[in-house]
Amino acid sequence: MQTYGSVFARIYNERWAGFAGHIAPLIRQYYKRDGQRPRTLLDVCCGTGQLARHFLDAGYRVVGLDQSADMLDYARANTADCIAAGRADFFRGDAAAFSLDERFGLAVSTFDALNHLPDEAALRGCFQSVINVLIGGGIFIFDLNTRAGLLHHWNGIHIDDTPELTLINRAIYDGGERAYTRISGFVPARDGLYERFEEVFFNTMFALDRVHSALLAAGFKTVHSAETHDLAAPVENPEALLRVFFVAQT
Ligand SMILES: C[S@@+](CC[C@H](N)C(=O)[O-])C[C@H]1O[C@@H](n2cnc3c(N)ncnc32)[C@H](O)[C@@H]1O
Repeated sequence: MQTYGSVFARIYNERWAGFAGHIAPLIRQYYKRDGQRPRTLLDVCCGTGQLARHFLDAGYRVVGLDQSADMLDYARANTADCIAAGRADFFRGDAAAFSLDERFGLAVSTFDALNHLPDEAALRGCFQSVINVLIGGGIFIFDLNTRAGLLHHWNGIHIDDTPELTLINRAIYDGGERAYTRISGFVPARDGLYERFEEVFFNTMFALDRVHSALLAAGFKTVHSAETHDLAAPVENPEALLRVFFVAQT
């Protein structure tokens, strides 16, 4: 289980939520392409709630699930009006094994959140948990960093050094089953002081043919992989992409 503690959740909310904001309208456009569908969304590994916010603004009911209490605090703050109106709920839980009483037309998991699962058994547990809460014909859309993507952009040291933040991101991937990142730094605290933080993450590299098979084994009837900019167009060789989206329908 990965951390996403209080300081990093703050940084994520302020600086890292752009991907969710970018992809949310593309996913919604894909979901509603053949007419009316139930406006109900489960956001697995919802993070700080920016994708949820987009769907709420479009009139959806949204349930978010995340293992980090601190990320969930931001998700709740970012959607407080909709929670008060009974249109949004956020729960702490493990994407690899969860159950909910509610059913959804759409489930998503974005920004390589499922690469955070430790192994294929956990990924299969996630697929089973998701399909159990989808209605017939429901759709699950998620993205993964591919092996090619991890090799291409993971390795390196990146430093942000501004008055607002010092952040050092050290990342290593050798082509094997796991990529690791250590993010450490300082953020302003009270009285002109700075608070130090450190987070260590991994990304599990999943073989994409096995992900495809695992979705079918979980009971999804159709599965295709796609590029970010066109979720409707199946790609022949997903391993060649740096990031792949899976679109699975019950
Ligand atoms: C890279 S962030 C993505 C957040 C959000 N989906 C987005 O697009 O910005 C990964 C999220 O997955 C959550 N996470 C990691 N492992 C998890 C698990 N096993 N169960 C639930 N959430 C998990 C983290 O707490 C974090 O909020």
